[in-house]
Amino acid sequence: MKAVGFYKYLPIEHPESLLDVEVETPQPSGRDLLVEVKAISVNPVDTKRRAAGPRLANALKVLGWDAAGVVAAAGPEAELFKPGDKVYYAGSNQRPGANSQLHLVDERIVGTKPDNLSFAEAAAMPLTTITAWEAMFERMGISKSGTHAGRRLLILGGAGGVGSIAIQLAKKLARLTVIASASRPDSIAWVKGLGADAVVDHTQPLPEQMAALGAPEADYIFCCNDTDRIFPVLPRLIAPQGRICSIVRTLRPVDLAPLQEKSVGFSWEGMFTRSTFRTPDMQAQHNLLEDAAGLLEAGTLVTTFRDNLGMICAATLKQAHQRIEHGHVIGKLVLEGF
Ligand SMILES: NC(=O)c1ccc[n+]([C@@H]2O[C@H](COP(=O)([O-])OP(=O)(O)OC[C@H]3O[C@@H](n4cnc5c(N)ncnc54)[C@H](OP(=O)(O)O)[C@@H]3O)[C@@H](O)[C@H]2O)c1
Repeated sequence: MKAVGFYKYLPIEHPESLLDVEVETPQPSGRDLLVEVKAISVNPVDTKRRAAGPRLANALKVLGWDAAGVVAAAGPEAELFKPGDKVYYAGSNQRPGANSQLHLVDERIVGTKPDNLSFAEAAAMPLTTITAWEAMFERMGISKSGTHAGRRLLILGGAGGVGSIAIQLAKKLARLTVIASASRPDSIAWVKGLGADAVVDHTQPLPEQMAALGAPEADYIFCCNDTDRIFPVLPRLIAPQGRICSIVRTLRPVDLAPLQEKSVGFSWEGMFTRSTFRTPDMQAQHNLLEDAAGLLEAGTLVTTFRDNLGMICAATLKQAHQRIEHGHVIGKLVLEGF
């Protein structure tokens, strides 16, 4: 089967940074599904895992942690899906990614593809939806049924893949007041279109902008970019007894001491945690994707799909990696078909 992978960690411009390859088709066992991949989307995790460096890959690396496709075969213990079912999922970063014609994934982290979305539109959703959902509803404890309606959420990086679905979940389910950050006319228009109540520019000092909005503090802050740079200002921006969640790991230690006076909670979100540690509640990600599919079918949520770059091959994947490395993607980039 066809796949896209690499053997050396090279700058994306290098001819061998990503390669079209032929690999053997894997066979499903246990609760695995073998999925015929129809569309994939690309995330910063792909570019971070491929990033240039002196280390050597000991074998072919296949990236890709967002896919939509059709179940081709199911392992003997699978009970949630059967061949022919249409699915969408992010998968596990402990296993090869989905940039291949056929792909193995544990059914406990797979959802039913929303009926009203094309494969490309569906492939845009899983990784970022799982991340934003877990960050807001599980790590920060925001009510998804509106119990905290009217509270204020600041989303740093509102137009990116994660921010784009976080805005929708916060507005449509939690009914929060959402301030999203965006720095360019296109990204500002995008976050407003998704429902953000107000916009701040993450390239400019935030306390002054928040004060000018009449919202000097937020009850929740969701950090989707450059925690190292932004964290020192967050103790000023968070309300007493508020919650902060970041999805971007720091290179330096995080100093939690300034959060003590306001009794603020800080948590990380890692959307691969459940699959990496095979936690007993791993199937929560199946449930979450099923709930999200229902919300997409009802029109409560809309796909964050933005650009279809063409067929899944090294050349188009390189374009996607380049755009993500540039740091200003709006919504999601998707590739479709082999
Ligand atoms: N822990 C996890 O489980 C997890 C899961 C998903 C993603 N992540 C990480 O979270 C980050 C965001 O992911 P993503 O998929 O949303 O990325 P993305 O789509 O590539 O994000 C692009 C957005 O980032 C914004 N941005 C650029 N510089 C910024 C800054 N200094 N502060 C705030 N926003 C800025 C840009 O807005 P403008 O163009 O308006 O500047 C752009 O819209 C990545 O680092 C990713 O690796 C972690």
